[in-house]
Amino acid sequence: MAAPADRYAVMGNPVAHSKSPRIHALFAENTQQKLRYDAIEVAIGLFEERVAAFFNDGNHGLSITVPFKEAAWYLADKKTARAKTAGAVNTLWRDENNCLNGDNTDGIGLVRDLTENHDIPVKNTRILVLGAGGAVRGVLAPLINEQPALITVANRTFSKAEELVEIFSQEKKSSNQVRLNACSFDMIQGDFDLIINGTAASLQGQTLPVSPDIINPETVCYDMMYGSGETVFNKWARESGALKCIDGLGMLVEQAAEQFFIWRGVRPETASVLAALRGC
Ligand code: ATR
Repeated sequence: MAAPADRYAVMGNPVAHSKSPRIHALFAENTQQKLRYDAIEVAIGLFEERVAAFFNDGNHGLSITVPFKEAAWYLADKKTARAKTAGAVNTLWRDENNCLNGDNTDGIGLVRDLTENHDIPVKNTRILVLGAGGAVRGVLAPLINEQPALITVANRTFSKAEELVEIFSQEKKSSNQVRLNACSFDMIQGDFDLIINGTAASLQGQTLPVSPDIINPETVCYDMMYGSGETVFNKWARESGALKCIDGLGMLVEQAAEQFFIWRGVRPETASVLAALRGC
């Protein structure tokens, strides 16, 4: 009898709509890796128990999505440097010593989508990040590592932007010359090469109370969210005259590719998977 396939899953709540099973199945098919990847909806309060049971059954790795990324951070015995500063873990696996490892691949997913898929440089650029919640915290370290000239974090609640800038100013290497600023939406000033939306406003169908004057004809806009059509933020950015508007589907595929690499040691090709998800 053939050995059962190595088993992986995404845990979240809700999780039925997750694209991760399809993405990882395509990666497995394209790299001839034998594995099974499911979506597991976990009731709030049962996360720790379900993770332990999953790994105790001899299974291999988990993707963690909303609302459990912070709980996964606390659960991981060992965290990568980028996971430590992210304050959230989206990738879990057990090593040969039975130790539960945690990583956060969201930021590297964003950077790869920008720099490799879209040829958008980050080094020496001026970046505006909108939002200061968990999603933004998860991507700041990999963005800072690319050594942009400036990152301004703007948020509806100013104190949260300030707090993030404080954390990451202390964490960044002294050789990294990036300037980090915090402001509220109505205090945004300056010219930006790249504007990244990491707020949850698009999910609620809301436009941000931000002046369209922050966009110039050279500005690239990136919404970390994605949907079946153009996101609310990207519609606003396009109508405000942005050079290019990109949604977060590429980031989703790239962060999954990094997980696949962590678990399997094989780096899957992503372009065909992204095209399949877009229905091209
Ligand atoms: P996530 O994990 O998606 O980042 P979060 O940690 O709750 O979720 O953070 C949500 C982010 O979206 C925050 O920056 C939030 O702003 P506040 O810190 O002021 O709450 C932002 N956000 C959510 N809805 C918004 C809206 N309608 N307008 C502007 N910002 C919004």
